[in-house]
Amino acid sequence: MIPKKLTKMKLPYFFQQFLGFLAVIILLMAVTVFSLVLFGRRTALNATENRLFSYAESIVDEDLDPTQLNTIRRVLTAQEVSFFVFSDEGNIVYPDLPRNFRANISDDQLDQLESGERIALTTHHEDLLGNPRETTLVYLPYFNENSEEFAGFITVSAPISHINRQMEELKGNLFSAFLISAIVAILMSLVFAHYQVKRVNRLRKAAHKVAEGEYTIQLEHNERDEIDYLTRDFNRMVIALKESQDEVINQEERRKSFMQDAAHEMRTPLTTINGLLEGLEHNVIPENQRLRSIQLMRKETRRLIRLVNENMDYENIRSNRIMLTKHTIPLSEIVEEISEQMKDIVKESSNKLIIGEMDDIHVYADYDRLKQILVNLIKNALQFTNNGTIKIASQFTSEGTEITVSDTGIGMTDVQMENIFERYYKADLSRTKTKFGESGLGLAIVQQLVNLHGAKISVESEIDEGTTFRILFPEKK
Ligand SMILES: Nc1ncnc2c1ncn2[C@@H]1O[C@H](COP(=O)(O)OP(=O)(O)OP(=O)(O)O)[C@@H](O)[C@H]1O
Ligand SMILES: [Mg+2]
Repeated sequence: MIPKKLTKMKLPYFFQQFLGFLAVIILLMAVTVFSLVLFGRRTALNATENRLFSYAESIVDEDLDPTQLNTIRRVLTAQEVSFFVFSDEGNIVYPDLPRNFRANISDDQLDQLESGERIALTTHHEDLLGNPRETTLVYLPYFNENSEEFAGFITVSAPISHINRQMEELKGNLFSAFLISAIVAILMSLVFAHYQVKRVNRLRKAAHKVAEGEYTIQLEHNERDEIDYLTRDFNRMVIALKESQDEVINQEERRKSFMQDAAHEMRTPLTTINGLLEGLEHNVIPENQRLRSIQLMRKETRRLIRLVNENMDYENIRSNRIMLTKHTIPLSEIVEEISEQMKDIVKESSNKLIIGEMDDIHVYADYDRLKQILVNLIKNALQFTNNGTIKIASQFTSEGTEITVSDTGIGMTDVQMENIFERYYKADLSRTKTKFGESGLGLAIVQQLVNLHGAKISVESEIDEGTTFRILFPEKK
């Protein structure tokens, strides 16, 4: 556990990074030095032991002949190497020493030798004569030439002070290397830490700006490390924030304009009704006009009711409060029903309604809502066409079922086409109050319903040529 004091202590990121780098580098260096020294010493000792074994072997090869042994002894003494030959019981055989001079060897070791094993003792704190100095000792057994029986063993020893000296030298060299690399490491970790801290600070400053409401910031980044990924996610977050901020502003705008538009739409019928009522109250409407006034008031009241209903419908669809009950509907069936219902309106309008070939065509939709969509489009077509034709057609495409409602009416400009799906939008403001209503809500509702079906609606139009609405319903999944 980290002590409380430490967690409270303020250690800037820069120093955390710096210390982190430094700790890793120093630890690595220390481990390297330690293992190099250990390994070097082990290797040097192994080499010495092998050398001593090879001396012992050549002594055995000389058949322990005293003259030969004397010669070998002279040569080896020059190299600070001494050797002794012992009998199978550990008594001195060569050189000529008092008979009580015995090999300093345990029974276990003697057993090992007897079974033919060779023994190497790497460090011994005294040599064979008992002088206190660090030595390496090896024991090699020898056997009777004829009977192959254990006959004794040879001990060869050499001081290892030179190895220790070499190791000290190695340590010295390594320490200098260590110092130099530590300095380089410190410099490098300073540079690294500085670089990382700079990147973190850049993010911090950007986050600060975003907190103050600046949603246009985007930071440059690569795809190299975690800070890059963090920067990328930060950019995404800023975009998402900007979008939701825009959406909030948008909603607020829509709410305001809805209130204004709704008030505006209601004012006209209410003013008409109010004027007529005043006329009736003060008896200024002639008797023969009274019935007509009341009829007018009823008409305006119906208009108001329709306005309220359509607004509620629109809001319900928009906020997902209506449920669709989708079926696979034969299109010809629903279109026939509509044309039967609208027979009178079509007749009154001086237009012709043509229904294209749609025998095998099906749409996956909610029956009543699909009817509502088509009725709205046909009503609009009738409304904006004079002595022309309105055609309903359909076909299967790779993306689903396409239904088109086209007319040969007044058409629309590009600007009008862009806006017709807005609530209360009417392209031609002079054409209010026709027999079909005209509150400017029809297409807004159509679009919401189309969206709810996962379908798409588009429009093509040419002034004085006509208009085509195209809806693409996806297949049942
Ligand atoms: N087939 C069409 N030809 C030309 N203009 C059209 C056509 N359909 C729609 N428009 C234009 O789009 C506007 C919006 O249509 P929408 O159906 O939303 O409202 P509306 O018909 O005016 O009123 P409502 O349908 O609510 O009674 C219309 O006022 C008209 O200017
Ligand atoms: Mg309409």
